[in-house]
Amino acid sequence: MDGVKVNLDGMRGGIEGPKEVGLKNVSSHCSISEMDDYDLSKLLDKPRLNIKREKSFDERSLSELSIGLARGLENYESAYSPGRSVLDTPASSARNSFEPHPMVADAWEALRRSLVHFRGQPVGTIAAYDHASEEVLNYDQVFVRDFVPSALAFLMNGEPDIVKNFLLKTLQLQGWEKRIDRFKLGEGVMPASFKVLHDPVRKTDTIIADFGETAIGRVAPVDSGFWWIILLRAYTKSTGDLSLAENPECQKGMRLILSLCLSEGFDTFPTLLCADGCSMIDRRMGIYGYPIEIQALFFMALRSALVLLKHDTEGKEFIERIVKRLHALSYHMRSYFWLDFQQLNDIYRYKTEEYSHTAVNKFNVIPDSIPEWVFDFMPTRGGYFIGNVSPARMDFRWFALGNCIAILSSLATPEQSSAIMDLIEERWEELVGEMPLKICYPAIESHEWQIVTGCDPKNTRWSYHNGGSWPVLLWMVTAACIKTGRPQIARRAIDLAESRLLKDGWPEYYDGKLGRYIGKQARKHQTWSIAGYLVAKMMLEDPSHLGMISLEEDKQMKPVIKRSSSWTC
Ligand code: GLC
Repeated sequence: MDGVKVNLDGMRGGIEGPKEVGLKNVSSHCSISEMDDYDLSKLLDKPRLNIKREKSFDERSLSELSIGLARGLENYESAYSPGRSVLDTPASSARNSFEPHPMVADAWEALRRSLVHFRGQPVGTIAAYDHASEEVLNYDQVFVRDFVPSALAFLMNGEPDIVKNFLLKTLQLQGWEKRIDRFKLGEGVMPASFKVLHDPVRKTDTIIADFGETAIGRVAPVDSGFWWIILLRAYTKSTGDLSLAENPECQKGMRLILSLCLSEGFDTFPTLLCADGCSMIDRRMGIYGYPIEIQALFFMALRSALVLLKHDTEGKEFIERIVKRLHALSYHMRSYFWLDFQQLNDIYRYKTEEYSHTAVNKFNVIPDSIPEWVFDFMPTRGGYFIGNVSPARMDFRWFALGNCIAILSSLATPEQSSAIMDLIEERWEELVGEMPLKICYPAIESHEWQIVTGCDPKNTRWSYHNGGSWPVLLWMVTAACIKTGRPQIARRAIDLAESRLLKDGWPEYYDGKLGRYIGKQARKHQTWSIAGYLVAKMMLEDPSHLGMISLEEDKQMKPVIKRSSSWTC
């Protein structure tokens, strides 16, 4: 089916310089007060695009991919390309033949209540609309990661404008000069969150943003930039509007993010080295090093950038670097992060202190460091990407987000994707229990909890980030189910969520081994719990929505997973 092509001829003159498209040239030394003069409506004051139905976005991007290594990306996404154009944007479930669940209407109402406006334009959704909670903390802000399911819900419902506004607004914030004490942050850093301040007397709106400097623990939002690129692709894919991604400022924003994560250093691995608390888990939880959540998002953002970057001089240079990195990253992840029964048995029998290229136990993992629980947890059928791999350290914990994103981005091979789904089925009680989905498994307790979390009272065992159950993860597992052809698993998870979410007031997370209790300090009316539910519902009703958040396998990246020779020793 035909997609859409944007005819840029009529507006070529209009996109030459940043000023013409209404995007002020946001230099790195632009101060906060200067930023206040920026008016979103100006940003959007662009010539109307002449949209012709011709080639799809992916076809166009791929036909321009000229690098040898990228050749394998042909047929990329063909299976999931919904072929939808702006002329027939997705219908809301209310307009579908399905009888909508009574919760859906409530969820939409709650989602709309969470909208945040800047100078009259919707620019995002607040993290939680919980007036009953004594402490607001930063839950009244628009978080980049929290907005993703809201954005997907709006895109699926044919309301892309708020997503465009959000992408442009956060792009402006990236252009701020970012300092923490005397330290200047990287140019490409995207905010964790921002807040719109309304002055009712002066009738002005201003924005404050947080790049980690006011976040609890001053954690770095490494995931924000990746989500931004992933969302830009989702917007482009869903609307067919190429003009936003092709806008010079968006291209620059993408390159700045990529510069941060593709820069050369002392690394011996293609994975991205991170500090603790750098993602959805934004507190100390022992995820420092090479956390799966970041590696999967990194991979997905690189693949998304590959189709969004223009093939101009600057773009080409990045495309080459991305292709090389993807190659190395997929090999590393698929070989060393992957754990199944066979692999676990291999590691269990590892020899240590091996020297040279012939080493089988490449990271010198001492088998005694394998935790007891993993031997019982590992089913005969199934597998997953473990939490972290670095010298002498394998974090065997299961993390839901990283594994779902690995499926969606095709970081996981089709076999690995099905194995992840097998594991979820086999270990349903542990990973889903009574509320989808555990953020990680298992919880850490006692002395280990003291050492790893620094005695964090919010992260006690089976609570919050330490084995808590997060309804927002429902959309990701649903998407993974659809991609792997297992919709019945998603249906089961959605049924569980429907039995409680509305009644409980859309909590942020649940506590306990089975996720039965509303979280100790969980907010109510948490927006991403609401939006996550809507996205899961809409995707299951119309699986073609999957295309905006899923990437097909790139055959060139197929790994040769060698079984360790120690197995036969
Ligand atoms: C908590 C979560 C974080 C989320 C924020 C806003 O800090 O850990 O992932 O972005 O709340 O909801």
